[in-house]
Amino acid sequence: MMLPSIFSRRPPPAVEPVPPGTCIVTRNLCAGYGDLEVLRDITLHVDRGEMVALLGPNGAGKTTLLNTVAGYLRPAAGEVHLFGRPAAAQPHVRARQGLGFIADDRNLLPSLTTRENLRMIRRPPGDLLAVFAELGEKLNTRGELLSGGQQQMVALGRALISQPKALVIDELSLGLAPVVRDRLLARLRVEADNGTAVLVVEQSVRSALSFADRAYVLSHGQIVAERPAKQWIDSLDELSELFVS
Ligand SMILES: Nc1ncnc2c1ncn2[C@@H]1O[C@H](COP(=O)(O)OP(=O)(O)OP(=O)(O)O)[C@@H](O)[C@H]1O
Ligand SMILES: [Mg+2]
Repeated sequence: MMLPSIFSRRPPPAVEPVPPGTCIVTRNLCAGYGDLEVLRDITLHVDRGEMVALLGPNGAGKTTLLNTVAGYLRPAAGEVHLFGRPAAAQPHVRARQGLGFIADDRNLLPSLTTRENLRMIRRPPGDLLAVFAELGEKLNTRGELLSGGQQQMVALGRALISQPKALVIDELSLGLAPVVRDRLLARLRVEADNGTAVLVVEQSVRSALSFADRAYVLSHGQIVAERPAKQWIDSLDELSELFVS
């Protein structure tokens, strides 16, 4: 007869509960590429209804962090929680749980038209036009022939029509005119005000801060500072020092 193991009676190790209302949580997250350790001990949170900017110089690890949150990179250590639970392993399952993710290449297939890019996520064009009406003229245009702003609108519209509970966007406005950038940031602000948790990497620090609630600064793979956006706007000199140190 098998006796029950004493080990099976042991309570599981105490895990600090994830606070209610948090949508994205990382704890002591470490990640990298093979032997290259990039992220070290990243603990952050993005709550329901919050728009949070992730700032930092080139090579700081911003993309690595977002890819780890989205599930494309496995943590070497630490945890990612989504919507109060440990995140599923696979990116598509995280997406089904309510995580929208736009990578820095905007996830569009360049040779497909807008209509075909939508068909890949089984959505009718009307859903996209409800988000960005001006794309109506571009439904039959291939992704590579759209302007950068239009490409990002397709990417953002595509993510928004799935009504994500959290939205993570890398390089929102790379290569875009300031007026388009601010329109997209304003759109993210509206989404956050409607309850979505938004985490955005944006190179235009001042613009990002004028729309976001809070910002983290990542440098050399570590969070070196976190403040409400309004406070950062009053200490831009200090912020720029974090970009060069
Ligand atoms: N696929 C990869 N394989 C190996 N190293 C990588 C890979 N992607 C990024 N790195 C390295 O990881 C570090 C962080 O890069 P990452 O792209 O995350 O930074 P970033 O903050 O997004 O920079 P940027 O502002 O230029 O987009 C860099 O040293 C980079 O060279
Ligand atoms: Mg990057």
